[in-house]
Amino acid sequence: MLLMAAKHAHDEPTRFFLFGGKGGVGKTTLAAAHALRLAAGGDRVLLVSTDPAHSVSDLLDTRLGDEPTPAGDNLWAMEIDPTADAERYVESIREDAREAVSKAVLPALDRHLKLAVQAPGTAESALFDRFTRLMDSAPGDYDRIVFDTAPTGHTLRLLTLPSMLGAWVEGLAGQRAKVNRLQGMWRSMAGVSEPDRDDRVLSRLRQRADRFTRARQRLHREALFHPVLLAERLPIEETVRLIDQLGEAGIPVGELFVNRLWPADTQSAFVAERVAQQDEYLAEIRERFAKRTLVEVAQSARDIVGRAQLDKLAERLPEPTIATG
Ligand SMILES: Nc1ncnc2c1ncn2[C@@H]1O[C@H](COP(=O)(O)OP(=O)(O)O)[C@@H](O)[C@H]1O
Ligand SMILES: [Mg+2]
Repeated sequence: MLLMAAKHAHDEPTRFFLFGGKGGVGKTTLAAAHALRLAAGGDRVLLVSTDPAHSVSDLLDTRLGDEPTPAGDNLWAMEIDPTADAERYVESIREDAREAVSKAVLPALDRHLKLAVQAPGTAESALFDRFTRLMDSAPGDYDRIVFDTAPTGHTLRLLTLPSMLGAWVEGLAGQRAKVNRLQGMWRSMAGVSEPDRDDRVLSRLRQRADRFTRARQRLHREALFHPVLLAERLPIEETVRLIDQLGEAGIPVGELFVNRLWPADTQSAFVAERVAQQDEYLAEIRERFAKRTLVEVAQSARDIVGRAQLDKLAERLPEPTIATG
């Protein structure tokens, strides 16, 4: 039976599930287990990971790459390498520009773009661009997409802040207009008068801006963000901040996964102490996140590696929440 979520402003079904939290809390593991649960319910599910350790390949016993690969019944998965993605992204911008600018400007452009690959924010921009493309494939190729998101707050900001996205696209469009002006000058100097009528680059930028707007709106209506945390001091505070940011961005918050809970062991004084502390933090989590639904996940004795172990973990998780409208 599916739980009904009344959190969405509109009654759209939840298409996108985002798992976020500090490094090592279990985002990748739980995102993969969640994807398995959704796929088991009969939906076509795509799991998207940006984990640099390629741990999803190990979890699903499938060699994954940069494009969706079949990884089980109703399940597809991919591992995006953000660095390679950023390079390809800048390369595509270079291709666009090459079509449009004169040879004289090319060396300067190349220098500029070489710097752009390393500039802070480029990898996130590339990633966001990729995410928005993938979002357009549900519904379509997929019914649901599970994103194992990077642990940085920067990605979240990019995913959410309309002003930043708008500014970014406008910045590019502005640069583009400048190039056009330069070109116009160049042409008139060379005695060629024909203006650049059909600006494909600019229209591609506009398409991108439209795609971003669409993605943002769908994040408000069709996404659930699942914070993952441990019953420890710092992750609790991190999660409070994360939920604040999500609230400001208008992204609905789903169940909180409290992961890696130690089983009580009265034999060992050390473990008993650990568990006592954990119980204090758990009580605090239940109080401070009283309005939220918690999913408490026990720590397995060993790391979760391979499909068999992942299946076992997935079986311990509750049915995914999908607002069915
Ligand atoms: N419930 C659990 N029981 C045992 N090991 C876990 C559990 N959840 C995560 N792990 C292990 O913890 C490590 C970090 O998990 P991972 O999902 O890669 O975290 P993240 O993606 O947040 O960095 C991995 O080795 C994983 O196998
Ligand atoms: Mg990870």
